[in-house]
Amino acid sequence: MASSTSPYHGVTVSAQRATGIDAFRNFSGSKDPDILNAKAHLTECELGDRNHPDYEGCIRSIIEKEGTDRIAAVILEPVQGAGGVHLPPEGYIEAVRTLCDEHNVLMIADEVICGFGRTGEMFGVNHWNVTPDLMCVAKGITSGYAQLGGVLISEKVRNVIVQYDDVLAHGFTYSGHPTACAVGLKNIEIIERDGLVAHSKEMGDELKKGLQYLQDKHRYVAKPRNLGLLAGFDLMKDPEASLPFHNSVKAANALVEECFDRNLIIRPFDFEEGMNIVAIAPPLVITKQEMENMITIIDEALTAVSSKWD
Ligand SMILES: Cc1ncc(COP(=O)(O)O)c(C=O)c1O
Repeated sequence: MASSTSPYHGVTVSAQRATGIDAFRNFSGSKDPDILNAKAHLTECELGDRNHPDYEGCIRSIIEKEGTDRIAAVILEPVQGAGGVHLPPEGYIEAVRTLCDEHNVLMIADEVICGFGRTGEMFGVNHWNVTPDLMCVAKGITSGYAQLGGVLISEKVRNVIVQYDDVLAHGFTYSGHPTACAVGLKNIEIIERDGLVAHSKEMGDELKKGLQYLQDKHRYVAKPRNLGLLAGFDLMKDPEASLPFHNSVKAANALVEECFDRNLIIRPFDFEEGMNIVAIAPPLVITKQEMENMITIIDEALTAVSSKWD
């Protein structure tokens, strides 16, 4: 069961169906009736507030409707990445863990974006002291230098699926590829040696200040947010009135292009009507000076493009 309206879990069949973004979710037209999509980030509902107006469609309501024996697991991203850099509200991740325990449902954390220091902790779930039953990892495990992904499983899960005297008979052609694994091991060694998780947290504090500066200076910048070095903000016609730009104004795209011309790569999200979100995810080794340069570039780029939005 996917846990929100805009999670991203990949584009293979079931992961695609767990993804909440229509453009990806419906890409192949394949169906997996066993994947159900819940609304995300409803802490009170997950804690059991049945009178909450959004209760229908939260994870708890789906478990109640389907029956505990029909729900194997809940999958969520600690921070939603490709869905628009959405941080969970206070208490949410813990509430989902408690809910899963209450109903004997497994909790899967998709740490593909959050893992290996991106958010200022080794894993995203570490921010909330939550231990999932399974974790999907990729990207940061090699810092992208080699193709490696994996699923980390708890002892409880391992004991159920292990076969033939400790062998898991579920391998792919390139499972455990030595080159990728060697790169992953070296990458983790460097992350630990150079204290990059703590550095990500420290630079995240600098990034927060930079985003605040951009919001204070530019009237279209809304909802700046970050956890460590995973950051984003919205561009809106009128942030105070929560008024988005007209659909014809591709503000996020325009800003990203303007930054690209200044040698900075950031990413636009505009897959829904009126959505103009910009995601920022600098390398974990970024210095304070480079962070300042990055904010200066975004500042200049905003000045250059925003006159077209007036
Ligand atoms: C949170 C998350 N999960 C999983 C994936 C992996 O997707 P795929 O297996 O399609 O590469 C991604 C890729 O961007 C992701 O951001």
